[in-house]
Amino acid sequence: MRLSKKTGVVAAGAALALTLTACAGGGAGSSNGDTDAGETTEGGTIGVAMPTETSERWIADGDAVQSGLEAAGYEVDLQFAGDDIPIQTQQIDAMITGGVDALIIAAIDGTALTSQLDAAAAAGIPVISYDRLIRDSENVDFYVSFDNEKVGVAQATALLYGLGLTDEAGEPTGEEGPFNVELFAGSLDDNNAHFFWKGAMETLQPFLDDGSLVVPSEQTDISQAATLRWQQETAQKRMEDLLTSTYSGGEELHGVLSPYDGLSRGIITALQGAGMGGETIEDGLPVVTGQDAEIASVKLIQDGVQQSTIFKDTRKLADQAVIAAEAYLAGEEPEANETETYDNGVKIVPSYLLEVDTVYADNITELLVDSGYWTQDEIDAGQAE
Ligand code: GAL
Repeated sequence: MRLSKKTGVVAAGAALALTLTACAGGGAGSSNGDTDAGETTEGGTIGVAMPTETSERWIADGDAVQSGLEAAGYEVDLQFAGDDIPIQTQQIDAMITGGVDALIIAAIDGTALTSQLDAAAAAGIPVISYDRLIRDSENVDFYVSFDNEKVGVAQATALLYGLGLTDEAGEPTGEEGPFNVELFAGSLDDNNAHFFWKGAMETLQPFLDDGSLVVPSEQTDISQAATLRWQQETAQKRMEDLLTSTYSGGEELHGVLSPYDGLSRGIITALQGAGMGGETIEDGLPVVTGQDAEIASVKLIQDGVQQSTIFKDTRKLADQAVIAAEAYLAGEEPEANETETYDNGVKIVPSYLLEVDTVYADNITELLVDSGYWTQDEIDAGQAE
């Protein structure tokens, strides 16, 4: 029996949950247009462009979107671009000339896809911007993401909580510090990096203003804190440079704002390499935040090395992308829950935003294991199965 499209989405969600319970973050092929024999494919073909396979979060996103779409009866052309902008533009060009019926794109550089999006519009192909907003084009139809500014607020709150300046909810404790921190931002060509930074800096500002928080390097501008392509090695190098330039006289560093787990691991490597505080937070290692609940970082959190991460349930994001694609293919508009914030420079893109959670050592089980995102064995191993 062929499922109706609507039922298909529900089935997709259930299938997806089962798949990810079994192998969250497990390796995906870099390209896949296959469907099982007998599977319904008259729903059309959806092109899915993901930025890179070097981060397990994007592999999990690709897997989840693909299985959700396939369970809903679509063929999928899934491509990863190795964080190389020309490769991503070529992949999207090929999807358009290959005749896909809709595009789901997580851009490497949010400003580099204008001509691809013009071609998509000319061919009547709806474009769903996935997690990262595509900028400078009127031909972005819909945006599915998390509340990115709240991610930044949550990261800064975790840092303040880790230092003891606030409680877990962000209420000031009256502690006066001063605490020394350094700040990292993501890739400036990723629209999200600016939202994370804005949310974080607005949260930290009162504590910077009253002197309970100090940035000894004075690098408090996003352009100084940025990390091109979100590269772990780049963050490690900048942290090493900061330790040399600012902390070689024996100054203490108490915390680091990091917007992504890959950067956090680079920063932690630099801190441990320089003997800054100790091997764990308990031994005096600075408090380092994160994002994405990547398995290697979840293990570090369990081991008391990384302080926190922001959990973005990629299964839910994938479900929203599938729902949006289905709406377009049925000739309808997807339902937005945010229609004011995401101005891409040309228009405000209707968006569907999801909520996030902050993971600390004491709620790993509740947020990540009980939800089936990672198994306890994977966390203990620090590796996806
Ligand atoms: C951002 C995304 C983050 C993180 C980062 C690095 O766009 O929102 O969750 O994955 O890219 O990949």
